[in-house]
Amino acid sequence: MKKNDLLTGFCDEIGFNGEGIFHIEGTTFFVPYCLRGELVTFKVLKIKKGIGYGKVESILEKSPDRTEPNCNVFSKCGGCQLLHANYDCQLNIKKQTVKNAFKKICGLDINIDSVYHGENIYGYRNKLQLPVREQNGRVKVGFFRENSHDVVEIDSCAIQPSWATEIIKIIKNFVDGKKVTAYNETTKKGLIRHVVVREIDNKFIVTVVANGDKIMGVNRLIEALLQKFSDLSVYLNVNKKDDNIIFGDRFVLLYGNGKIAISEFGINYEVGPQSFVQVNTEVKNLLYQKVVEFADIGGDYVVIDGYSGAGVLTAMLSKKAKKAYGVEIIKEAVDSANKLAKDNGLSDKMESICAPCEDILPDLIEREAKNGNKTVLVLDPPRKGVELNVLLSALKCKPDKIIYVACSPQSLARDIGVLTDNLQVEDNKITGLNKTPNPVYELTSVSLFDLFPHTKHIESLAVLRKI
Ligand SMILES: C[S@@+](CC[C@H](N)C(=O)[O-])C[C@H]1O[C@@H](n2cnc3c(N)ncnc32)[C@H](O)[C@@H]1O
Repeated sequence: MKKNDLLTGFCDEIGFNGEGIFHIEGTTFFVPYCLRGELVTFKVLKIKKGIGYGKVESILEKSPDRTEPNCNVFSKCGGCQLLHANYDCQLNIKKQTVKNAFKKICGLDINIDSVYHGENIYGYRNKLQLPVREQNGRVKVGFFRENSHDVVEIDSCAIQPSWATEIIKIIKNFVDGKKVTAYNETTKKGLIRHVVVREIDNKFIVTVVANGDKIMGVNRLIEALLQKFSDLSVYLNVNKKDDNIIFGDRFVLLYGNGKIAISEFGINYEVGPQSFVQVNTEVKNLLYQKVVEFADIGGDYVVIDGYSGAGVLTAMLSKKAKKAYGVEIIKEAVDSANKLAKDNGLSDKMESICAPCEDILPDLIEREAKNGNKTVLVLDPPRKGVELNVLLSALKCKPDKIIYVACSPQSLARDIGVLTDNLQVEDNKITGLNKTPNPVYELTSVSLFDLFPHTKHIESLAVLRKI
């Protein structure tokens, strides 16, 4: 078997990235956009040491779960990996992905207790992240192709609400390549790099990321946006760096009050252009309610909320607890959390600390343990998961409960493996499976929250109880 061969086989299972997995003559092939049980002819794109990658040529026997994707750039843009599967099938794939991650990474056979999803499985995103580039002599506005910086041009998107269609139209009109240029990654010239929009309750923050300190004629853009969106803030973000991080350090408010005011769960708070907000408001609300329910805190509990963002969850938890600490690295989010505490009369119950969790949590967990307080540790880290020193300090000081919210099933499985002693740690490194675990924590439940229908992503909520 070699590159460019056409192979035919049955899809045996679905991989972590939503792709079909085929086992042919001792080689495992990963082929996107296939479903389990389908007979597929695919072209070999790459093959090395028993691992191959392929591209579908034709599907000879289709799965009954296959549906027609309602998107004309499906499989070109990197956004949705599962739009070709009906929704029940998508949820089953995600369930299996999480179970497989636990089995493979920490040797645990887990049950998934519940899978929660919203009513809206299309048009659910409250955030639009639009690359703008000059490529092949043209301005392109759209989404990046998977694993690439090629822009696939779009007019609308199945998982974005209709406001995104309006924004895309306005940006395409504004960045004409003459008066307002688009960034070219090769020459490093051109002005507009990205447009990032956050929407909550019909209130909008539009951030235009530019390779320069000002945008000539930006008032034309603001006027066009105001014709469609009355509650609006517009920022310029200056990013002259040659890297893949979207935002540069400097935000300049060009229009509006710069924040979105939100009222949820009896808490009033504000978010800015950099605050982390889950992209699916409906399912995020379900998730937060379940975190509070599982935490099951009494008035004598202290909560330590690691990776706490703008502090909404910290505030919800603080209402039930003696005290809640939030630890978050982004200053803007901590400022929002402090304002939230003040505005909601929670300043004596809630304290937000701006620092990396790995620097603060070990001491904080130890201090609360020494004070003899009952503690719940909530962890909601980014994709890379929780730093090992934080997990080790939890194992040393033993908070009563650990609630772990994860966007990466792989990082979750690794970290739960450490917390349940299924993974062995030596010299501050994970060294492999532990054959004779002696656990301090028991994994009592794993539930899933589909914040990201039609994509490969899934949010998990794991609960650990001290044995
Ligand atoms: C998945 S978000 C969760 C935020 C919050 N719990 C929520 O639901 O809105 C992860 C958060 O961790 C923050 N973060 C990333 N690395 C961090 C670190 N090393 N220490 C503290 N916070 C960090 C990010 O800025 C982000 O706000």
